[in-house]
Amino acid sequence: MNDPNGLIEWNDRVHLFYQHDPAGPVPEKIAWGHASSADLWTWHDHPLALEPDPFGPDRDGCFSGCAVVADGHPHLLYTGVNGEHELPCLAQAADQDLIGWTRYPGNPVIGRPPPGEAVRAFRDHSAWRAGPTWYQVIGGGLQDRGGALFLYRSADLRNWQYAGVFAAAADYGLDGVIWECPDVFVLGDTTVVVVSVWDGQPPYAMWMTGQVTGHRFVPKTTGRSDSGHRYYAPQSLTLADGRRVAFGWLREALGELAGPDQSRVGVMSLPRELFLDQGGALRSRPARELAGARGDALVNRPVDGHGTANLALSARASHATEISITPAGRGVAAVGLRLAGADGHDVQVRVTAGGVEITEGRRRLTDAAAPRTAAPLTGPVGEVRAFYDGGVLEVYSPPAAPAAVICCRDGRYDRVVAEISGRPGRASLTAWSCGRSPDSR
Ligand code: FRU
Repeated sequence: MNDPNGLIEWNDRVHLFYQHDPAGPVPEKIAWGHASSADLWTWHDHPLALEPDPFGPDRDGCFSGCAVVADGHPHLLYTGVNGEHELPCLAQAADQDLIGWTRYPGNPVIGRPPPGEAVRAFRDHSAWRAGPTWYQVIGGGLQDRGGALFLYRSADLRNWQYAGVFAAAADYGLDGVIWECPDVFVLGDTTVVVVSVWDGQPPYAMWMTGQVTGHRFVPKTTGRSDSGHRYYAPQSLTLADGRRVAFGWLREALGELAGPDQSRVGVMSLPRELFLDQGGALRSRPARELAGARGDALVNRPVDGHGTANLALSARASHATEISITPAGRGVAAVGLRLAGADGHDVQVRVTAGGVEITEGRRRLTDAAAPRTAAPLTGPVGEVRAFYDGGVLEVYSPPAAPAAVICCRDGRYDRVVAEISGRPGRASLTAWSCGRSPDSR
Protein backbone atom coordinates (compact mmCIF):
# COMPACT_ATOMS: atom_id res chain seq x y z
CA MET A 1 0.00 0.00 0.00
CA ASN A 2 0.96 3.61 -0.34
CA ASP A 3 -0.82 6.97 0.18
CA PRO A 4 -3.92 7.29 2.36
CA ASN A 5 -6.75 8.73 0.26
CA GLY A 6 -10.31 10.00 0.53
CA LEU A 7 -10.47 10.18 4.32
CA ILE A 8 -14.04 10.75 5.44
CA GLU A 9 -16.26 10.12 8.46
CA TRP A 10 -19.60 8.84 7.26
CA ASN A 11 -22.40 7.18 9.28
CA ASP A 12 -20.18 6.99 12.37
CA ARG A 13 -17.31 5.22 10.62
CA VAL A 14 -14.03 6.62 9.39
CA HIS A 15 -13.28 5.44 5.86
CA LEU A 16 -9.69 5.25 4.83
CA PHE A 17 -8.93 4.54 1.18
CA TYR A 18 -5.38 3.97 0.05
CA GLN A 19 -3.21 3.49 -3.00
CA HIS A 20 -2.87 -0.18 -3.76
CA ASP A 21 -2.15 -2.48 -6.69
CA PRO A 22 -3.98 -5.74 -6.06
CA ALA A 23 -1.89 -7.49 -8.76
CA GLY A 24 1.33 -7.37 -6.76
CA PRO A 25 3.85 -5.34 -4.84
CA VAL A 26 5.24 -3.52 -7.91
CA PRO A 27 2.66 -0.80 -8.54
CA GLU A 28 1.56 -0.91 -12.17
CA LYS A 29 -2.17 -0.28 -12.22
CA ILE A 30 -3.02 1.43 -8.98
CA ALA A 31 -6.48 1.07 -7.48
CA TRP A 32 -8.03 2.40 -4.28
CA GLY A 33 -8.06 -0.04 -1.37
CA HIS A 34 -10.66 0.59 1.31
CA ALA A 35 -10.88 0.01 5.07
CA SER A 36 -13.20 1.51 7.68
CA SER A 37 -13.26 1.82 11.43
CA ALA A 38 -15.55 2.97 14.22
CA ASP A 39 -12.72 3.43 16.74
CA LEU A 40 -9.61 4.26 14.65
CA TRP A 41 -7.81 1.11 15.71
CA THR A 42 -10.03 -1.82 14.65
CA TRP A 43 -10.14 -1.79 10.88
CA HIS A 44 -12.31 -3.77 8.51
CA ASP A 45 -11.25 -4.40 4.95
CA HIS A 46 -13.66 -3.73 2.12
CA PRO A 47 -13.48 -4.49 -1.60
CA LEU A 48 -11.48 -2.16 -3.85
CA ALA A 49 -13.30 1.16 -4.18
CA LEU A 50 -11.88 2.33 -7.50
CA GLU A 51 -10.09 0.31 -10.14
CA PRO A 52 -8.69 1.57 -13.43
CA ASP A 53 -11.39 1.56 -16.10
CA PRO A 54 -9.86 0.11 -19.28
CA PHE A 55 -11.86 2.59 -21.38
CA GLY A 56 -11.68 5.59 -19.07
CA PRO A 57 -9.32 8.48 -18.40
CA ASP A 58 -8.01 6.46 -15.43
CA ARG A 59 -7.15 3.35 -17.49
CA ASP A 60 -3.56 3.28 -16.18
CA GLY A 61 -4.24 4.06 -12.55
CA CYS A 62 -6.43 5.74 -9.97
CA PHE A 63 -3.88 7.92 -8.20
CA SER A 64 -4.33 9.91 -5.00
CA GLY A 65 -7.22 12.13 -4.08
CA CYS A 66 -9.66 13.29 -1.44
CA ALA A 67 -13.30 12.95 -0.37
CA VAL A 68 -15.90 15.68 0.05
CA VAL A 69 -19.63 15.66 0.73
CA ALA A 70 -21.71 17.54 -1.86
CA ASP A 71 -25.54 17.59 -1.89
CA GLY A 72 -25.55 14.97 0.87
CA HIS A 73 -23.41 12.48 -1.08
CA PRO A 74 -19.74 11.60 -0.59
CA HIS A 75 -17.65 12.30 -3.67
CA LEU A 76 -14.06 11.44 -4.53
CA LEU A 77 -11.74 13.70 -6.49
CA TYR A 78 -8.78 11.65 -7.67
CA THR A 79 -6.06 11.61 -10.28
CA GLY A 80 -6.85 9.51 -13.34
CA VAL A 81 -3.75 8.25 -15.14
CA ASN A 82 -3.88 7.65 -18.89
CA GLY A 83 -0.47 7.26 -20.45
CA GLU A 84 1.35 10.56 -19.88
CA HIS A 85 -1.77 12.30 -18.64
CA GLU A 86 -2.62 12.69 -14.98
CA LEU A 87 -5.95 14.51 -14.71
CA PRO A 88 -8.65 15.09 -12.08
CA CYS A 89 -11.61 12.70 -12.06
CA LEU A 90 -14.81 12.64 -9.98
CA ALA A 91 -16.84 9.74 -8.55
CA GLN A 92 -19.94 9.67 -6.34
CA ALA A 93 -20.80 7.12 -3.65
CA ALA A 94 -23.40 4.61 -4.84
CA ASP A 95 -24.34 3.36 -1.36
CA GLN A 96 -24.19 4.34 2.31
CA ASP A 97 -21.26 1.98 3.07
CA LEU A 98 -19.12 3.67 0.42
CA ILE A 99 -18.51 0.31 -1.25
CA GLY A 100 -19.61 1.23 -4.78
CA TRP A 101 -18.61 4.41 -6.65
CA THR A 102 -20.09 5.85 -9.84
CA ARG A 103 -17.73 7.79 -12.05
CA TYR A 104 -18.85 11.06 -13.57
CA PRO A 105 -19.23 10.42 -17.32
CA GLY A 106 -17.64 13.78 -18.10
CA ASN A 107 -14.29 12.79 -16.56
CA PRO A 108 -11.67 14.18 -16.50
CA VAL A 109 -13.19 17.26 -14.87
CA ILE A 110 -10.13 19.33 -15.80
CA GLY A 111 -8.85 18.55 -19.30
CA ARG A 112 -5.24 19.69 -18.97
CA PRO A 113 -2.84 21.42 -16.59
CA PRO A 114 -3.24 25.20 -16.42
CA PRO A 115 -2.23 26.78 -19.73
CA GLY A 116 0.35 29.53 -19.46
CA GLU A 117 2.19 27.92 -16.53
CA ALA A 118 5.42 25.92 -16.97
CA VAL A 119 3.94 22.87 -15.24
CA ARG A 120 6.28 20.03 -14.34
CA ALA A 121 3.78 17.77 -12.53
CA PHE A 122 0.07 17.98 -11.83
CA ARG A 123 -1.63 15.47 -9.53
CA ASP A 124 -3.29 14.80 -6.14
CA HIS A 125 -6.14 16.80 -4.65
CA SER A 126 -7.38 18.59 -1.57
CA ALA A 127 -10.82 20.19 -1.74
CA TRP A 128 -13.02 22.30 0.53
CA ARG A 129 -16.07 24.51 0.32
CA ALA A 130 -16.42 28.19 1.22
CA GLY A 131 -20.07 29.29 1.02
CA PRO A 132 -21.42 28.21 -2.37
CA THR A 133 -17.95 27.79 -3.91
CA TRP A 134 -15.80 24.68 -4.04
CA TYR A 135 -12.05 25.03 -4.08
CA GLN A 136 -9.41 22.45 -4.78
CA VAL A 137 -5.66 22.57 -4.88
CA ILE A 138 -3.78 20.18 -7.12
CA GLY A 139 -0.17 19.32 -6.29
CA GLY A 140 2.77 19.41 -8.67
CA GLY A 141 5.61 21.66 -9.69
CA LEU A 142 6.67 24.54 -11.92
CA GLN A 143 9.85 24.49 -14.02
CA ASP A 144 11.15 27.71 -12.48
CA ARG A 145 9.51 27.81 -9.03
CA GLY A 146 9.77 24.21 -7.79
CA GLY A 147 6.99 22.44 -5.92
CA ALA A 148 3.68 24.19 -6.49
CA LEU A 149 -0.02 24.01 -5.70
CA PHE A 150 -2.58 25.01 -8.32
CA LEU A 151 -5.87 26.48 -7.12
CA TYR A 152 -9.21 25.89 -8.87
CA ARG A 153 -12.78 26.94 -8.07
CA SER A 154 -16.14 25.45 -8.98
CA ALA A 155 -19.86 25.71 -8.25
CA ASP A 156 -20.57 21.99 -8.71
CA LEU A 157 -17.33 19.90 -8.55
CA ARG A 158 -17.67 19.27 -12.31
CA ASN A 159 -16.75 22.55 -13.95
CA TRP A 160 -13.56 24.09 -12.64
CA GLN A 161 -11.93 27.46 -13.29
CA TYR A 162 -8.23 28.00 -12.72
CA ALA A 163 -7.59 30.64 -10.04
CA GLY A 164 -3.76 30.72 -10.01
CA VAL A 165 -0.75 29.35 -8.16
CA PHE A 166 -1.78 28.90 -4.51
CA ALA A 167 1.84 28.57 -3.31
CA ALA A 168 5.21 27.68 -4.83
CA ALA A 169 8.37 26.47 -3.06
CA ALA A 170 10.84 28.95 -4.56
CA ASP A 171 8.68 31.95 -3.62
CA TYR A 172 9.39 31.20 0.03
CA GLY A 173 12.81 29.51 -0.16
CA LEU A 174 11.28 26.11 0.58
CA ASP A 175 12.39 22.65 -0.62
CA GLY A 176 10.93 20.54 -3.36
CA VAL A 177 10.92 20.12 -7.11
CA ILE A 178 7.44 18.66 -6.76
CA TRP A 179 4.90 19.02 -3.96
CA GLU A 180 2.71 15.93 -3.95
CA CYS A 181 -0.40 15.05 -1.98
CA PRO A 182 -1.50 18.48 -0.73
CA ASP A 183 -3.69 18.56 2.39
CA VAL A 184 -5.27 21.94 3.14
CA PHE A 185 -7.34 22.64 6.27
CA VAL A 186 -8.04 25.27 8.90
CA LEU A 187 -7.23 25.09 12.62
CA GLY A 188 -8.70 28.05 14.50
CA ASP A 189 -7.93 31.04 12.28
CA THR A 190 -4.79 29.52 10.77
CA THR A 191 -4.60 27.80 7.40
CA VAL A 192 -2.49 24.66 7.39
CA VAL A 193 -1.03 23.20 4.20
CA VAL A 194 0.79 19.88 4.31
CA VAL A 195 2.70 18.72 1.22
CA SER A 196 4.92 15.79 0.41
CA VAL A 197 8.25 17.12 -0.76
CA TRP A 198 9.90 15.27 -3.63
CA ASP A 199 13.24 16.41 -5.00
CA GLY A 200 15.45 13.39 -5.45
CA GLN A 201 16.43 13.38 -1.76
CA PRO A 202 14.64 11.09 0.68
CA PRO A 203 11.14 12.47 0.39
CA TYR A 204 9.36 13.84 3.44
CA ALA A 205 6.12 15.52 4.53
CA MET A 206 6.28 19.24 5.35
CA TRP A 207 3.68 21.37 7.08
CA MET A 208 3.22 25.10 6.56
CA THR A 209 0.98 27.33 8.63
CA GLY A 210 -0.08 30.77 7.47
CA GLN A 211 -2.91 32.76 5.92
CA VAL A 212 -4.74 32.89 2.64
CA THR A 213 -4.68 36.31 1.01
CA GLY A 214 -6.88 36.51 -2.07
CA HIS A 215 -6.10 33.27 -3.89
CA ARG A 216 -2.61 32.81 -2.47
CA PHE A 217 -1.42 30.97 0.58
CA VAL A 218 1.38 32.76 2.45
CA PRO A 219 3.27 30.41 4.79
CA LYS A 220 4.64 31.86 7.99
CA THR A 221 5.99 28.83 9.83
CA THR A 222 7.08 25.48 8.39
CA GLY A 223 8.46 22.21 9.67
CA ARG A 224 8.70 18.49 9.11
CA SER A 225 5.69 16.37 9.99
CA ASP A 226 7.90 13.51 11.17
CA SER A 227 11.58 13.10 11.85
CA GLY A 228 11.86 9.56 10.44
CA HIS A 229 12.40 8.71 6.76
CA ARG A 230 9.17 6.83 6.28
CA TYR A 231 6.17 9.07 6.91
CA TYR A 232 4.90 10.38 3.58
CA ALA A 233 1.80 11.54 1.72
CA PRO A 234 -0.23 12.20 4.88
CA GLN A 235 -3.87 13.17 4.62
CA SER A 236 -6.23 14.29 7.37
CA LEU A 237 -9.92 14.64 8.13
CA THR A 238 -12.02 16.55 10.65
CA LEU A 239 -13.91 14.20 12.96
CA ALA A 240 -17.47 14.95 14.10
CA ASP A 241 -16.09 16.26 17.42
CA GLY A 242 -13.86 18.76 15.63
CA ARG A 243 -10.48 17.04 16.01
CA ARG A 244 -8.25 16.92 12.96
CA VAL A 245 -6.70 13.49 12.52
CA ALA A 246 -4.02 12.50 10.00
CA PHE A 247 -2.74 9.20 8.63
CA GLY A 248 0.48 8.84 6.65
CA TRP A 249 1.99 6.13 4.52
CA LEU A 250 5.11 4.58 6.05
CA ARG A 251 7.20 3.96 2.96
CA GLU A 252 8.84 0.62 2.60
CA ALA A 253 10.87 -0.61 -0.34
CA LEU A 254 10.31 -3.87 -2.07
CA GLY A 255 12.84 -6.37 -0.81
CA GLU A 256 12.98 -4.91 2.69
CA LEU A 257 10.55 -7.54 3.83
CA ALA A 258 11.92 -10.97 4.46
CA GLY A 259 10.02 -13.97 3.17
CA PRO A 260 7.24 -14.40 0.67
CA ASP A 261 4.95 -11.77 2.18
CA GLN A 262 5.99 -9.03 -0.24
CA SER A 263 2.39 -8.17 -1.02
CA ARG A 264 2.16 -6.43 2.35
CA VAL A 265 4.92 -3.96 1.61
CA GLY A 266 4.17 -0.48 3.00
CA VAL A 267 2.05 0.28 6.07
CA MET A 268 -0.28 2.98 7.36
CA SER A 269 0.79 5.10 10.32
CA LEU A 270 -1.21 5.34 13.49
CA PRO A 271 -3.85 8.09 13.50
CA ARG A 272 -2.36 11.40 14.69
CA GLU A 273 -4.31 14.25 16.22
CA LEU A 274 -3.09 17.57 14.85
CA PHE A 275 -3.00 20.80 16.83
CA LEU A 276 -1.21 24.14 16.80
CA ASP A 277 1.17 25.21 19.55
CA GLN A 278 1.46 28.77 20.81
CA GLY A 279 4.09 29.60 18.18
CA GLY A 280 1.74 28.52 15.39
CA ALA A 281 3.62 25.29 14.69
CA LEU A 282 1.73 22.13 13.72
CA ARG A 283 2.11 19.37 16.32
CA SER A 284 0.84 15.84 16.51
CA ARG A 285 -0.01 13.34 19.21
CA PRO A 286 -1.51 9.85 19.02
CA ALA A 287 -5.29 9.94 18.51
CA ARG A 288 -6.98 9.51 21.88
CA GLU A 289 -8.92 6.48 20.58
CA LEU A 290 -5.70 4.45 20.73
CA ALA A 291 -6.06 4.22 24.50
CA GLY A 292 -8.99 1.92 23.76
CA ALA A 293 -6.61 -0.63 22.23
CA ARG A 294 -4.81 -1.12 25.53
CA GLY A 295 -5.21 -4.57 26.96
CA ASP A 296 -3.27 -6.14 29.80
CA ALA A 297 -0.73 -3.90 31.53
CA LEU A 298 2.64 -5.58 31.07
CA VAL A 299 4.33 -3.33 33.60
CA ASN A 300 3.43 -0.30 35.68
CA ARG A 301 6.07 1.08 37.99
CA PRO A 302 8.43 3.95 38.73
CA VAL A 303 11.92 4.09 37.26
CA ASP A 304 14.60 5.97 39.20
CA GLY A 305 17.36 8.30 37.96
CA HIS A 306 19.80 6.67 35.58
CA GLY A 307 17.79 3.55 36.12
CA THR A 308 16.61 1.03 33.64
CA ALA A 309 13.52 -1.08 33.38
CA ASN A 310 13.27 -4.24 31.35
CA LEU A 311 10.05 -5.52 29.91
CA ALA A 312 9.03 -8.19 27.49
CA LEU A 313 7.87 -6.56 24.27
CA SER A 314 4.66 -8.42 24.04
CA ALA A 315 3.27 -11.54 25.55
CA ARG A 316 1.77 -12.40 22.18
CA ALA A 317 3.83 -11.72 19.09
CA SER A 318 0.74 -10.83 17.07
CA HIS A 319 -0.09 -7.97 19.41
CA ALA A 320 1.26 -4.47 19.50
CA THR A 321 2.87 -2.91 22.56
CA GLU A 322 2.45 0.64 23.85
CA ILE A 323 5.00 2.06 26.27
CA SER A 324 4.32 5.31 28.10
CA ILE A 325 6.95 7.07 30.19
CA THR A 326 5.91 10.09 32.22
CA PRO A 327 8.78 11.98 33.84
CA ALA A 328 8.06 13.13 37.38
CA GLY A 329 8.90 16.77 38.05
CA ARG A 330 10.90 18.73 35.52
CA GLY A 331 14.30 17.11 36.00
CA VAL A 332 14.30 14.43 33.32
CA ALA A 333 16.45 15.58 30.39
CA ALA A 334 16.29 12.46 28.26
CA VAL A 335 14.39 9.24 27.98
CA GLY A 336 15.99 6.28 26.27
CA LEU A 337 14.36 3.13 25.00
CA ARG A 338 16.13 0.14 23.55
CA LEU A 339 14.47 -2.64 21.60
CA ALA A 340 16.62 -5.64 22.28
CA GLY A 341 16.78 -8.99 20.54
CA ALA A 342 18.89 -12.07 20.75
CA ASP A 343 21.62 -10.97 18.31
CA GLY A 344 22.56 -7.66 19.93
CA HIS A 345 21.47 -5.66 16.85
CA ASP A 346 19.45 -3.25 18.96
CA VAL A 347 17.22 -0.28 18.16
CA GLN A 348 18.12 2.76 20.27
CA VAL A 349 15.62 5.55 20.88
CA ARG A 350 16.64 8.80 22.55
CA VAL A 351 14.02 11.43 23.30
CA THR A 352 14.82 14.94 24.48
CA ALA A 353 12.70 18.08 24.37
CA GLY A 354 14.40 18.83 21.04
CA GLY A 355 13.42 15.69 19.23
CA VAL A 356 13.41 11.95 18.78
CA GLU A 357 16.50 10.14 17.50
CA ILE A 358 16.38 6.48 16.52
CA THR A 359 19.18 4.22 15.32
CA GLU A 360 19.17 0.54 14.45
CA GLY A 361 22.67 -0.86 14.76
CA ARG A 362 24.69 1.81 12.92
CA ARG A 363 21.80 2.94 10.74
CA ARG A 364 20.12 6.24 11.56
CA LEU A 365 16.40 5.90 11.20
CA THR A 366 15.65 9.56 11.93
CA ASP A 367 16.82 12.69 10.18
CA ALA A 368 20.29 13.91 11.12
CA ALA A 369 19.25 17.54 10.84
CA ALA A 370 17.10 18.62 13.76
CA PRO A 371 13.56 18.92 12.48
CA ARG A 372 12.77 22.51 11.61
CA THR A 373 10.65 24.00 14.34
CA ALA A 374 9.19 27.39 15.11
CA ALA A 375 11.46 27.80 18.14
CA PRO A 376 14.35 25.72 19.49
CA LEU A 377 13.06 23.08 21.83
CA THR A 378 15.01 22.75 25.06
CA GLY A 379 14.14 21.85 28.63
CA PRO A 380 12.77 18.76 30.26
CA VAL A 381 11.26 16.02 28.21
CA GLY A 382 7.50 15.49 28.39
CA GLU A 383 5.53 12.27 28.25
CA VAL A 384 6.97 9.78 25.76
CA ARG A 385 4.67 7.29 24.09
CA ALA A 386 6.09 4.55 21.90
CA PHE A 387 4.09 2.03 19.88
CA TYR A 388 5.72 -1.11 18.53
CA ASP A 389 3.86 -3.39 16.16
CA GLY A 390 5.54 -6.02 14.02
CA GLY A 391 8.68 -4.00 13.29
CA VAL A 392 6.94 -0.62 13.05
CA LEU A 393 7.90 1.80 15.81
CA GLU A 394 6.27 5.18 16.34
CA VAL A 395 7.53 7.50 19.07
CA TYR A 396 5.65 10.59 20.21
CA SER A 397 6.69 13.27 22.66
CA PRO A 398 5.11 16.60 21.74
CA PRO A 399 6.20 19.28 21.11
CA ALA A 400 8.95 17.43 19.23
CA ALA A 401 7.97 16.00 15.85
CA PRO A 402 7.06 12.32 16.13
CA ALA A 403 9.21 9.65 14.53
CA ALA A 404 7.78 6.68 12.69
CA VAL A 405 10.38 4.14 11.65
CA ILE A 406 10.42 0.60 10.35
CA CYS A 407 12.89 -1.73 12.01
CA CYS A 408 13.56 -5.33 11.10
CA ARG A 409 10.13 -6.87 10.61
CA ASP A 410 11.21 -10.40 11.39
CA GLY A 411 10.10 -10.33 15.01
CA ARG A 412 13.65 -10.34 16.37
CA TYR A 413 12.96 -7.78 19.11
CA ASP A 414 11.47 -9.25 22.21
CA ARG A 415 12.49 -6.86 25.00
CA VAL A 416 12.35 -3.14 25.68
CA VAL A 417 14.77 -1.49 28.04
CA ALA A 418 13.83 1.97 29.28
CA GLU A 419 16.57 4.37 30.41
CA ILE A 420 15.94 7.65 32.17
CA SER A 421 18.60 10.33 32.62
CA GLY A 422 18.72 13.72 34.31
CA ARG A 423 18.22 15.00 37.82
CA PRO A 424 16.27 13.99 39.80
CA GLY A 425 15.39 11.64 36.95
CA ARG A 426 12.31 9.86 38.12
CA ALA A 427 9.63 8.63 35.85
CA SER A 428 6.73 6.26 35.81
CA LEU A 429 6.57 3.65 33.14
CA THR A 430 3.53 1.78 31.94
CA ALA A 431 3.31 -0.66 29.07
CA TRP A 432 0.36 -2.44 27.58
CA SER A 433 -0.19 -5.26 25.20
CA CYS A 434 -2.58 -3.82 22.62
CA GLY A 435 -5.29 -5.71 20.82
CA ARG A 436 -5.73 -5.43 17.13
CA SER A 437 -8.05 -6.70 14.50
CA PRO A 438 -6.89 -9.75 12.52
CA ASP A 439 -6.94 -7.84 9.26
CA SER A 440 -4.83 -4.85 10.30
CA ARG A 441 -1.12 -4.61 9.44
C1 FRU B 1 2.82 9.90 -3.70
C2 FRU B 1 2.29 9.53 -5.06
C3 FRU B 1 1.21 10.48 -5.51
C4 FRU B 1 0.44 9.67 -6.51
C5 FRU B 1 0.49 8.31 -5.88
C6 FRU B 1 0.60 7.17 -6.86
O1 FRU B 1 3.33 8.81 -3.00
O2 FRU B 1 3.33 9.46 -6.01
O3 FRU B 1 1.73 11.68 -6.04
O4 FRU B 1 -0.87 10.14 -6.64
O5 FRU B 1 1.63 8.27 -5.05
O6 FRU B 1 0.44 5.94 -6.18
